[in-house]
Amino acid sequence: MNRRRLGFMTVVSLLVLATHATLAGQAAQAPLPNVVILATGGTIAGTGTTSTTTVGYAVATVGVQSLIDAVPELKRIAMVRGEQVFQIASENMTCDHWLKLGRRVNELLAQDEVDGIVITHGTDTLEETAYFLNLAVTSAKPVVLVGAMRPSTALSADGPMNLYDAVSLAGSREAVGRGVLVCMNDQINGARDVTKTNTSDLGTFRSRELGPLGSMRAGRPAFYRTSTRRHTTQSEFDIREIRELPRVGIVYGYADYGSAVIEALTAAGVKGIVHAGVGNGSVSLDARPALVAARVKGIVVVRSSRVGSGAVARNGEVNDDAFDFVVADDLTPQKARILLALALTKTVDTREIQRMFNQY
Ligand code: SIN
Repeated sequence: MNRRRLGFMTVVSLLVLATHATLAGQAAQAPLPNVVILATGGTIAGTGTTSTTTVGYAVATVGVQSLIDAVPELKRIAMVRGEQVFQIASENMTCDHWLKLGRRVNELLAQDEVDGIVITHGTDTLEETAYFLNLAVTSAKPVVLVGAMRPSTALSADGPMNLYDAVSLAGSREAVGRGVLVCMNDQINGARDVTKTNTSDLGTFRSRELGPLGSMRAGRPAFYRTSTRRHTTQSEFDIREIRELPRVGIVYGYADYGSAVIEALTAAGVKGIVHAGVGNGSVSLDARPALVAARVKGIVVVRSSRVGSGAVARNGEVNDDAFDFVVADDLTPQKARILLALALTKTVDTREIQRMFNQY
């Protein structure tokens, strides 16, 4: 190679190196996202008497600042601050808690300086809170729910890594506009489709038929699909106006279940009943008169299935048009209850409510 060509190549190499250095410098100076962690309790904030105590531990004992302090790596990926919203086991979550949490999330996300929110939560009803927020949050900014299956004192506790991933996801551009997300055990699932599938397994959260939206790779999100259903910024539900959610009960179908629970719910004055039927949402001959009577009294009846995946076919096992019932599509009974309660804040027209079940 002649000397002139060698000199030219050296100049090119130096220019390339300088460009890389400038880009790396810019990346290093990019401001960290501001993520607020709203803590509500659960096993992620739980403590056991020994490091091998993974059942029979106390839930909701560790405060939000201790959860943050336990993961100093968070400082590298976000400006994090915490708020203790509740400190409860998630089986004690109520509609009033949801309204309070939803309002706080909307208040925070309306602030320019907040880029995303992480909610630490017990896993037992985490999917319900996630779906409620999916319908109630008014911002496209990321909202990520996270929990843990092992208490914070356990060997190989899953909470710290789950929290790290959730904060990274909540601060990421990739998560904007995807609706409320659940991030645990390296997976990213959408609020509408995810459910707890195992009482104790670390990989308990799954979107059974549809699969996860993506996964966390070395602390960064990789998305593969997105939900096509209305959520957050496209939601018609406005929780600012709601003082309390209408009461909706669930009836569980099984062989010989009779009509006593339907009659009891009707007498208790519920505004809606979700029927979690066997198979494709079937209603037994014994239960049918009570369900029809409930509808005649003005209670909105939604047929769902106890199976756990697959949609309930309208006018399939039951003539929904004749009885003026609504079908839940593929929503689990516990999520159908949330959508029905929010729907009832706007209308009692079953055609409108069926439209909502087809869209959300
Ligand atoms: C709870 O849901 O609060 C307890 C169980 C858990 O967080 O895994």
